[in-house]
Amino acid sequence: MSSIKIAASILSCDFSRLADEIKKCEASGIDFLHIDVMDGHFVPNITIGPIIVEAIRALTKLTIDAHLMIENPFMYIDKFIDAGCDIVTLHAECYGKLRAHSNGLGKFPKEIDKIDAEKVRKDIRAIKAKGKKAGLTLNPGTPLCIEEVLEDLDKVLIMSVNPGFAGQKFMPEVLPKIKALRQIFKKDIEVDGGINEQTAPLAVKAGANILATASCFFHSNEPKALVKRLKNLKQ
Ligand code: DX5
Ligand code: ZN
Repeated sequence: MSSIKIAASILSCDFSRLADEIKKCEASGIDFLHIDVMDGHFVPNITIGPIIVEAIRALTKLTIDAHLMIENPFMYIDKFIDAGCDIVTLHAECYGKLRAHSNGLGKFPKEIDKIDAEKVRKDIRAIKAKGKKAGLTLNPGTPLCIEEVLEDLDKVLIMSVNPGFAGQKFMPEVLPKIKALRQIFKKDIEVDGGINEQTAPLAVKAGANILATASCFFHSNEPKALVKRLKNLKQ
């Protein structure tokens, strides 16, 4: 039995056929629906809000994970959970002093060096108070600066592209961060961005056990076989 799990990021699905695409996820052995929520401020793109999550919730029993790439996530935690999310995944960059180059409107990628652990814990508590799981994400340029809150988390998400768009190239420079995290964190480590059959083995070898994929999965001609191969990767 494989312990690798696959999260389908619906960013690359055909939204005109959303119900069919969700069925394809179910039929292909996908473990999580990864919903990329973008606000045009934290990242240079705008995507999905709670109203779409609610529509998806009515279509499936799959675990729904909201990857919140938004400023002020605390304002929306309840809304996404009420819409049907099972996991809420926050960004560390919302809880620290942004580096000069990324501080301000239209400045990307957002990067920090230190988190305000109390602020993070407050939002994690808000998620857990509703009986849901909490994840925390690190952008490629943000170092492993979340040791203080690891025990409060169910999952850490390591971005292997700068967030904003599907279809970007995997950044191998994040692999040492995954390796270092695996040494000190025994729960879920998810990798997101540029995952395909060439890059997935690198992420898994480094210690990731959840692979998020948008374009590789939704553009595949054989999604079920693809998911099976990814799940069979050796850790
Ligand atoms: C990037 C998103 C990713 C993205 C992955 O901002 O967080 O989840 O959809 O897309 P691929 O798998 O195409 O790199
Ligand atoms: Zn994502």
